[in-house]
Amino acid sequence: MDNRIIIFDTTLRDGEQVPGCQLNTIEKIEVARQLEKLGVDVIEAGFPVSSPGDFKSVAEVSKAVEKPVICALTRAVKKDIEVAADALRHAVRKRIHTGIGTSDYHIRHKLGSNPEDVLKRAVEAVKYARKFVEDVEFYAEDAGRSDNEYLARVIEAVIAAGATTVNIPDTTGYCLPSEYGEKIAYLVNNVPNIDKAIISTHCHNDLGMATANTLSGVVNGARQVEVTINGIGERAGNTALEEVVMAIKSHHSLDYSHNIDTRQIIRTSKLVSTLMRMPVQPNKAIVGRNAFAHSSGIHQDGVLKHRQNYEIIDPADVGIKESAITLTARSGRAALKHRLQLLGYELESNQLNEVYERFLELADSKKDITEEDLRILVGTEQKKGKKAIELVSLQVISGKTTIPTATVQVSFNGDIFTETASGNGPIDASFTAVKNLVKRRVRLEEFLIQAITRGSDDIGKVHVQVEHKGNIYYGFSAHTDIVTASVESFLDAIGKIY
Ligand code: KIV
Ligand code: ZN
Repeated sequence: MDNRIIIFDTTLRDGEQVPGCQLNTIEKIEVARQLEKLGVDVIEAGFPVSSPGDFKSVAEVSKAVEKPVICALTRAVKKDIEVAADALRHAVRKRIHTGIGTSDYHIRHKLGSNPEDVLKRAVEAVKYARKFVEDVEFYAEDAGRSDNEYLARVIEAVIAAGATTVNIPDTTGYCLPSEYGEKIAYLVNNVPNIDKAIISTHCHNDLGMATANTLSGVVNGARQVEVTINGIGERAGNTALEEVVMAIKSHHSLDYSHNIDTRQIIRTSKLVSTLMRMPVQPNKAIVGRNAFAHSSGIHQDGVLKHRQNYEIIDPADVGIKESAITLTARSGRAALKHRLQLLGYELESNQLNEVYERFLELADSKKDITEEDLRILVGTEQKKGKKAIELVSLQVISGKTTIPTATVQVSFNGDIFTETASGNGPIDASFTAVKNLVKRRVRLEEFLIQAITRGSDDIGKVHVQVEHKGNIYYGFSAHTDIVTASVESFLDAIGKIY
């Protein structure tokens, strides 16, 4: 059996289903181009029938990248397949990913159907998709909890109908690695025409076993893995691309090849995290801030004596490298441009000027400008546009023996309003002042402050979620002053209500 693993990235489809992580078309193109540089074989770009925005994104990604196959998701429904084929029409290489639930839960309680009818619909969907494209992938949703015998019958029938890849999703993240591996082995041994298709894994991380299940699937015969950057995805997420690839690289017993340029991993991870406003947990394997940080004296001493004493991966292999040029308040535009180019940003000269102005402001208040700081500067610049509500000024009084009080001045479609309020801390006081100003019933659902590095002069990133009339709105801002970042992110979310 060929040992090459096809890397199927679904960051832009399954990853993007995370509430609050939606990307616009320009951002999707940026991620798709980076995925192409990373070397993924397939990009699942969206679910075109689900919304005009998704349709447009699949169509634009199809034009923007050349090497990877562009894949579009559908249900086993004719209309979905027609719309997907239309969205893919500019793709150099295209794939339709169609499917239906095969577990008892899905057959009876989701589809209100029976096994024979589902099998028929699966076959019809694959045959219909083959009328539009040659590359058709079939997914058996909730395969993780499907009866193996029935699953094997469905897989045999869809391969006979023309499916070239068969996806075996553990949709609910339920399987143990041994069980998932056995399921793949069962299909290898019991589907007579299995050699006519590639078996694909698609694992969710509800029990923290997505990567283990994926590798178990590969060891038992799967040759495509469906993964996302940073493991993002609904609920506990999908299998993380970086974990699978680096496990393969680190273990000689996993003798598989793939096309990924691992030195692009950190860059891709940061791009996805920044654009999706989805912070990476500090202890996340491979891409977390602490993944290569050795804090204890014994570990530091050990790593200095010999890196492999405590490191199984060379940080350079995933693209962690310090640039020789340190940016300070005295750096010129050329140095900034050079560092941005190293990060993959090519800015027009007017954009560069704007970023440079903001860079100088930041460099005045912060001594080390990190790559993450630069990403935020560029990201904020690219996202700039006229906002309905903007913070004009903020004055806060707080301390151990004072009642925290904030005076907030905002511009609301050009008119300026001011409000003062007190609270149990400077952020609470500022948020109360904002709430009094906007006169809408908004409830803060989530509030997250994250420092990027660890210095007291660091930039704080703030993510908020607010609820208004049953809908959730997301806000984000970054600033060296965390109260300012908090108020800006609160206003960013509230502005979306209008
Ligand atoms: O988890 C799942 O079953 C899926 C399918 C739609 C492929 O994402
Ligand atoms: Zn999924």
